[in-house]
Parts: sequence; structure tokens; C-alpha cells
Amino acid sequence: MNQHFAEETVLGKAYDSRLIKRLIPYILAFKYYVVLAIFLLLISTLLQLAGPYLIKIGIDQYIEPKNYNGLIFIIVLFGAALVGQAIVRFFQMIVIEWIGQQIMYKLRMQIFSHLQSLPLSYFDTNPVGRLVTRVTTDVDTLNELFTGGFVAIFGDIFTLVGIVIVLFSLNWKLALLILLILPILAYVTFLIRTRLRNSFRQIRIRIAKINAFLQENITGMSIIQLFNRAEKNFLQFDELNRSHLDAYLKTIFYFSLFFPVMQLMLSVSIGLIIWQGGIQVIEKGLTFGALVAFIQYAQQFFRPLSDLAEKYNIMQAAMAASERIFKLLDEKNPIHNPANPVSLEKIAGEIEFKNVCFSYTGTTEDDRNYVLKNISFSVKPGEKIAIVGATGAGKSTIINLLARFYDVTYGEILLDGVNIKNLSLEQLRGNIGIVLQDVFIFAGTLGDNIRLGNRSISQNEIERAAKTVHIHPFIAKFSDGYEHNVTERGSTLSSGQKQLLSFARALAYDPAILVLDEATSSVDSETELLIQDALRQLMQNRTSIIIAHRLSTIQNADRIIVLHKGEIREIGPHDQLLLQSSIYKRLYELQYKNAAE
Ligand SMILES: Nc1ncnc2c1ncn2[C@@H]1O[C@H](COP(=O)(O)OP(=O)(O)OP(=O)(O)O)[C@@H](O)[C@H]1O
Ligand SMILES: [Mg+2]
Repeated sequence: MNQHFAEETVLGKAYDSRLIKRLIPYILAFKYYVVLAIFLLLISTLLQLAGPYLIKIGIDQYIEPKNYNGLIFIIVLFGAALVGQAIVRFFQMIVIEWIGQQIMYKLRMQIFSHLQSLPLSYFDTNPVGRLVTRVTTDVDTLNELFTGGFVAIFGDIFTLVGIVIVLFSLNWKLALLILLILPILAYVTFLIRTRLRNSFRQIRIRIAKINAFLQENITGMSIIQLFNRAEKNFLQFDELNRSHLDAYLKTIFYFSLFFPVMQLMLSVSIGLIIWQGGIQVIEKGLTFGALVAFIQYAQQFFRPLSDLAEKYNIMQAAMAASERIFKLLDEKNPIHNPANPVSLEKIAGEIEFKNVCFSYTGTTEDDRNYVLKNISFSVKPGEKIAIVGATGAGKSTIINLLARFYDVTYGEILLDGVNIKNLSLEQLRGNIGIVLQDVFIFAGTLGDNIRLGNRSISQNEIERAAKTVHIHPFIAKFSDGYEHNVTERGSTLSSGQKQLLSFARALAYDPAILVLDEATSSVDSETELLIQDALRQLMQNRTSIIIAHRLSTIQNADRIIVLHKGEIREIGPHDQLLLQSSIYKRLYELQYKNAAE
């Protein structure tokens, strides 16, 4: 667990050319806007530098000789420079933020669509929280690179270089004096910033732990209350929360230290300027106006310097975030469409498993753990097959392989005589209607949950499917019917209703092959009858493979496959198996017979 949190907070280089190279195309997509932003930045920097210089001219050329008209002219110019700077800054901000948000939008879409293309095995090993962080927090961090990093760093460098040039042209001795303070300033900033950075890192780790703890606790609230865990978990939370507080208190110290120290150093430099500059003014080596300008430039000089350290942190965090984002985007799906897919005109629905072996884990023979061993069977078009076996026998795994959620380790699976690896995923999955063990309901309307976003399914077809599987009366009871909204995971639906809804989903797609993992949760006898009839309708005229948990299903099946610890032990119709097989008989007596009584 700690490893996982550490990954979120690793900080490395602030500049990684490999990553920058990959980021550049995103920026180039908006190159004209970037050029515009830099142009606006240049203008605003020039306007900013103009201020103190105008003051110098005002004092030296108009105030001292007592020229009233000239003074008013300079004040108007000074005002114009200020207003101009405000306006330019406004547009510059808009352009930069606009670019940043456009890039973020693109990146989020890219990550999401990439996530959708990844194999299920990827989600077995990557927790939800981590993936959500990629699309949200990491992308936001990267945004700061565009808005607060890249362009702003340009701006800071422009300003610094500009000030140095002006200072030297005004008086090189005083300019050197200011530059002398630089190394000390850089050192102090560095000291405080590194301390701050470590504390911030601690804060991030601790907030990640709080998030994970909260997520688990809120999802598992019913269990927590049932098992009286509330007080214990409260104490755990208190501990996590306190360690977060402690880390934060530490940053407050350094944070509070930083600005007074900066202020002090600025004051010292200004003191030095007044002292040394004042002497020069008295000795006529410097005009009074130039001295005033010097003091102002010194103040302007300090801001970008303290900002540069901040920018460094932003860059560092953004590099780490982009590293994680690109790592996700580089994740390849081993299950992909064949280069030249075989296209079947119409799928008849013949299925054959040939010596299939499968392990979810492991890349070498040693660390593989086979959950299916040498599975061979065939299903004729229109045939109804039931698969039975103890829990963990590998029944759901057979479905996962047929739909190519995972690829077989050895052997092959044929659909109408074609290896499924040679079919396009669209054709394969489009012809298999799968009803899974636990039904997933999306937030949205009941109608959309049947249609699942497929606009080619008409309202009529949806209602017909719903009627066939007996869920229509339930839906019709709502005043808004098919438009009725349900919450994510369908917590307002009973498990029987969810099952019927998932049947309607499969039926609306009218697939050639039906694959059904019967839910294990029991429902009342009336709903049970509805479900049995709905199932009968669903299986009509199509090849069906059903992982059976109810007696009626195995009795209606043409043949039954008995799976035991990843191996097929027997295949045959119910009556025949009962007469000759001991495994099936025991399973039947334990699991099915009692359920029927
Ligand atoms: N994603 C996975 N990664 C690793 N192992 C898995 C994964 N899914 C299932 N397994 C393992 O594979 C074996 C077979 O699981 P499977 O889900 O096929 O069982 P099942 O026969 O459907 O059981 P049940 O009747 O309880 O649904 C089990 O030992 C299980 O622990
Ligand atoms: Mg299962």
C-alpha cells in the first residue's frame, strides 16, 4: 500500500527532455496562440520596465528644473503604461489559460479512450483510485506546467534580463551591488524551499492515505455498521488525520519564515542602494531620478527571483505527473484486432474450445497458475449448454476467454470454425450477448440501461425486450417509465429487477450467442418464475452457454458440462449424467436438489 502512495509523490527532475519532447506536440497544436501569448508577455514586460524609467525622466528632467507641463506629460505616459500593462496582462492570461484548458481537454479524452482500450487484466492490478488520479489530479498538475510554468518562466527570464540591462546602463557600480546579493538570496531560497518541498511531499502522501481510507469506508459503510467497526475506524481516521495535520504544521513554519526573510533581504539591498547611491548622488555621479529608479528596479528584481523557485517546484511536479500519464498511455493491449480480420457474413453460433489452458497470472511456466486445463468441447448452433461446478472451478473464466477479455495461454477457441483471434473484436463481441454474474447498472435512465448507448435500438425494440423478460410492468409503474432515472450501481433496484433488466439488455441486442453467468443471489419464488420464463425466451433460437445456478436451467439444457478444478470431468444431458456420474450427482444433490424443494 505504501508503495502505491510513494508512486504518487515521486519527484525527480524538473526538466526531462524525453518528456518535454512528448509534450511539445500538444503545444504545437496551438502554436499560433503560444506565439501570441509570448508576444503579449514581451509587451507587458517592456511596459513594466518602462515605469521606473519614466519616473527617472520625470524627476531629472521636469521636477528638478520645475517644468510643470513636462511633468504632466510624463504622468500621462506613466498612467498609460500602467493601464496598457493591465490590459495586456488580461489578454495574456486569457490566451494562456485557454491553451492550457484545451490541452487538458485533449489529454483527458486521450487517457479515457486509452483506458477503454486496455485489457481487463490491466484493471485487475491497477486500483481504481490510481487511475482516477491520472485523469484528474495528474492532468491538473500538468496544466500548471502550461499556465504557471513554461510561459511564466519565459516571462520571469525576460524581466530579469531586462532589469539587468537597464541597471547596468544606468550605473554599473550600483548594478554590481545588487547582483552581489543574488548568490546569498539564491542560497536562502534554496534552503527554505527544499524543506518546504519535503513537507509538501509528506502532506501529499498523507492526504492520499486519507482518501483511500475514506473511499473504502464509505463504500463499505453497511459492513462497518453491521460489524460495529465504527469506533475502531474512527480512531484509525483520527490517526491519519492527525499525521496530516502534523505535516501541515511543519510547512507553516517554513512558509512563514520565507516571506519575512525575503522582505528583510530586499530591505537590506535597498538600504545598500540608498547608501552607496546616495553617496554617488552627492558626488554627482548619479542623478536623483536614477536613484529612485534603481530602488524600484530592485523591488521588481526580487519578485521573479522568489517566483523562479516556485516555478521549479511546478515543473518538477508536472514532470512527475506527465511521466505517469505517458506511462499509462504507453500501456499496450495484448488483445488487439487482427491485421486482416476474417469477416463472417452471418454468425451461425457454433463454438469450439480446443485444448484450452489458461492462467490469469505469470509470464513463465513456473509462475503460472492454471485455472483451466486442457478444456475441449463444442457447441452446435442453437444448442443450449449448461456449465456447472463448484465455486472457483473456472466457469466465469470460460466466458472471459470466449469474449476475449483475456487470451488463452494455450489452445484455441473457434467461432463458426474461425479462431476468435482472427475475428475483429467488434464482430466477436457484437455477436455474443453476455449477462454477467453481478449486473452493473449505470447512472441514467432505465431505457438507456437497456440500450447501453446504442442508438440503433428503437424505443419499440426496447419495450418489446422488456415485455419479453417481464420487466416492463415494473418500469411502467414509474410515472416517467423508461425515462426513470436510476443511480449508479442501481442501489434502488432489487437484485431480481437488476437481473431482469440485464436480460432485457441482452435481448435488445439480439445476439447469435447468449452467454449467461447466472446470479447466485436468490430471489423470491414469484420473481424466480419470472426469471425462469425470461431465460427460456432469451435462449430461444440462439446458441446459449449458461453457467447454471438454478435447477430449471440445467434441466432445460441440451447438455451439461461438469467442471472440476479447471478440468472437464463429464459432458452429457441431465438424466444421463445423473445415472452414470458421481461428481454430477453429488453436486446435484448438494446444490440443486435442495434449492428446488
Ligand atoms: N482476474 C483474476 N486474476 C487472477 N485470478 C483470477 C481472476 N479471476 C478469477 N481468478 C481465479 O480463477 C479461478 C476460477 O475463477 P472463476 O471466476 O472462473 O470461478 P467460477 O467457477 O466462476 O466460480 P463462481 O461459481 O464462484 O463464480 C479462481 O481460483 C479465481 O481465484
Ligand atoms: Mg463465476
